[in-house]
Amino acid sequence: MIEIKPLDAPFGCAVYGLDLATGVDADTCRQLHEALYQHRVMVIKDQTCDEVAFLAFGRQWGAPIPHVIDSSRMAGFPDMMEVGNTTARAKDDDLKRNSAAFWHTDQSYDANPATATMLYARTIPDTGGETRVIDMKAAYDGLDRGTKSRIDKLNAMHLYGATSGKDGEAPTAALNTAQADEVPPTPHPLVRAHSVTGERALYGVAGTAFGIEGMATDEGEALIAELKAHCLQDKYIYEHKYIVGDIALWDTQMTLHSAKPIGAPNGPGTERLLWRISVRGKPAVFQ
Ligand SMILES: [Fe+2]
Repeated sequence: MIEIKPLDAPFGCAVYGLDLATGVDADTCRQLHEALYQHRVMVIKDQTCDEVAFLAFGRQWGAPIPHVIDSSRMAGFPDMMEVGNTTARAKDDDLKRNSAAFWHTDQSYDANPATATMLYARTIPDTGGETRVIDMKAAYDGLDRGTKSRIDKLNAMHLYGATSGKDGEAPTAALNTAQADEVPPTPHPLVRAHSVTGERALYGVAGTAFGIEGMATDEGEALIAELKAHCLQDKYIYEHKYIVGDIALWDTQMTLHSAKPIGAPNGPGTERLLWRISVRGKPAVFQ
């Protein structure tokens, strides 16, 4: 029997009594999905499983997305990434180490973006690297009626790296030409319906959104900035401090997230390593 408890936070839940090493049956899987859709963020506690079991669990949420930056993919497991400061590529490269230290939602630069992302904490530093998540359904519900009707039918345009380093955010790693060709500019509604629940939330008003379709550049940028500022209120934000064995999942259709920056490792208590899986498409239990 698993136990699902709300976090002591504006939103989110924790799951106890689950062991991914032994697999997750369909009933439990459905229960976990419903909890995620209700709470936006889920922290599965006390896991000790290996890459194979974690990836099998990831596939229960959708199709894993190999990252557009192919050098970021995990050796032997291209559907996964190693996130943190311990890999050769991240140790001495501030940009790669902190490539998620800005508000965004995963693959919003893609026509078919992620539906869930999960991070499995393997090694955790004393400070830094926390994940902050915004509940974009709550943020949408908190808009006044005039703003809701103003944005209801608008599409934002998204492009990988379009807002890199702007608005006080950390820059994103650049794509090479072949990678950039894979992800041309793409529109997404500002108010987007969840692919399973149909609930409407603000979507992707940070990270890759660089304008509004059919609107003058200045006006579009100003509207995105206004919506982002609204979402960044403390009442909509949960900050997760990882403990080794945590798997944090978030519903990328209904959230924004940002990693707190971290330095290069320099002794005990400074190393950070998490395994990451992002998925897209409808989960098997809802097909
Ligand atoms: Fe991310």
